[in-house]
Amino acid sequence: MVDEKAIQNAQEKYGMLLRKQLERVESLKNEGDWVDYSKLDKMIVGVCGGDGIGPYICASAQRVMEFLLADKIKAGKVEVRQIDGLTIERRVEVMKAIPDDTLAELKKCHVILKGPTTTPKKGDPWPNIESANVAMRKELDLFANVRPVSVPELGIDWTFFRENTEGSYALGSDGINVTEDLAMDFCVATTQGTERIIRAGFDYAKKNGIDYVSLVTKANIIKATDGKFLSIAEEVANEYPGIRWDDWFIDIMTAKLIDPARRSSFRVFVLPNLYGDIITDEAAQIQGGVGTAGSANIGKRYAMFEAIHGSAPRMVNEGRGQYADPSSMIKAVALMMSHIGEAEKGERLTMALDVCCQFEKKLVMTGRDTGATGDEFADYVMETVKRPDLKKVWQSYVGKAKTD
Ligand code: IPM
Ligand code: MG
Repeated sequence: MVDEKAIQNAQEKYGMLLRKQLERVESLKNEGDWVDYSKLDKMIVGVCGGDGIGPYICASAQRVMEFLLADKIKAGKVEVRQIDGLTIERRVEVMKAIPDDTLAELKKCHVILKGPTTTPKKGDPWPNIESANVAMRKELDLFANVRPVSVPELGIDWTFFRENTEGSYALGSDGINVTEDLAMDFCVATTQGTERIIRAGFDYAKKNGIDYVSLVTKANIIKATDGKFLSIAEEVANEYPGIRWDDWFIDIMTAKLIDPARRSSFRVFVLPNLYGDIITDEAAQIQGGVGTAGSANIGKRYAMFEAIHGSAPRMVNEGRGQYADPSSMIKAVALMMSHIGEAEKGERLTMALDVCCQFEKKLVMTGRDTGATGDEFADYVMETVKRPDLKKVWQSYVGKAKTD
C-alpha cells in the first residue's frame, strides 16, 4: 500500500521549497551592481575566527592582512572588526547556522576573513544543523567560489569557478524523508544563477588573457540542472569569441587532473557546486594538500575569504592548534587583496607563499611541535614579502623548477 498521506506531506514541503526558490529567482532578476571598493570612504573588514583550528590560523592570517594594509588602516581607510559567535557551541546554543546577531554584524562589513567552522553531519555529537559556510554563502549571495591552484613545477595554473549558492547545496538541509524508507534531496539550477557563474569564469579568463575555459558537469545523467548549466554555457561562450571552451564530465575530469600529459593545459574551470567542492580538494592535494589552498567567495555586495578545508577539531583536542598550517588562510588574504583593488600586494603575497611553501621551505609545518607554529610561519611569509628581490627569487625558482 502506498502511503498517500506521506506523499501529501512531502508535496506540501516541496511546494514550500519551490515557492522560496521562485522568490529567489525574482530577487536575482533585480540584483544590484558590483560594489566599487575604490569609492568607499572606509572599507570594513570583518574577521571571524570560526572554531577548531579556525581561530588559530585566522589570527595568523589576520596579522599578514594587517601588515599588508597597515597604511590604509592607519589612514582610517580600512577598519578591521572582530566578529565573534560563529563557534559550533554558539550555533548549537541558538540552533542556527549563523546566529542572528553574528549575521547582522557580518552584513555591516564589506569583506570578511573567515576561519573554518565545524559542519555537523548525522550521527555527530552536535545537532545536525546547517553548515555555517553554506548559510553564509547563501545569506550574503556569494555566488562565485574562486579557488586557484598553482604548481609552477608541474606547469599547473588552474582557477576553479565553483557555483556557490545553488546545485545540490542550495537545499542540502531541506531534503525530505518522505517515509522511513524513502529520502529525497534536491538540486537547484536557475537561469540567473547559472549564467552569472559562467560569465564570471569567462570574464576572469578574458581579463587575464587566458584563452581556454573548461565546463564540468554530469549532464549526460543529471539532465535538468546540469543540462541547463551546459546549455547556458553554450550561449554565454558565444559572447567571448576569443576564448576556446570545452565541456567535460566530472568523473573523467577527476582523472584528467592527475594525467601528467593533459592537466597542465587546463586553465579555468566552471562547475556546479558539489563537483566544485570535490574536485578542488583533489586539485589542492596536487598542490601540497588542502591546507595550502585558499578560496574567495564573491558576490556583488559582499565577499568572504576562507580556507578550503574544515576545522580539524582533533588538532585542537590534542593541543596542537598553534601548529596548524595557516597557508590556506594566508592564501585567502592574497585573494582578498586582489579583490579589493590591491592586486600588487596580492601578487607579492602569492609569490611569497610559493617561495615559502614550495621552494625555499625554511620553515616546515608538520602539524605538531616537530614543526613551526602558525605564527612563526606567518612571520616567515611577511619577511619574504618584504624581500626586495622577491620577484627575482620567485622567477628563478619557477624557471629552475620547469627545467628540472
Ligand atoms: C568547502 C568545504 C565546505 C563545503 C564545508 C565545510 C561545508 O568543504 O568549502 O569546500 O562543502 O563547501
Ligand atoms: Mg570542500
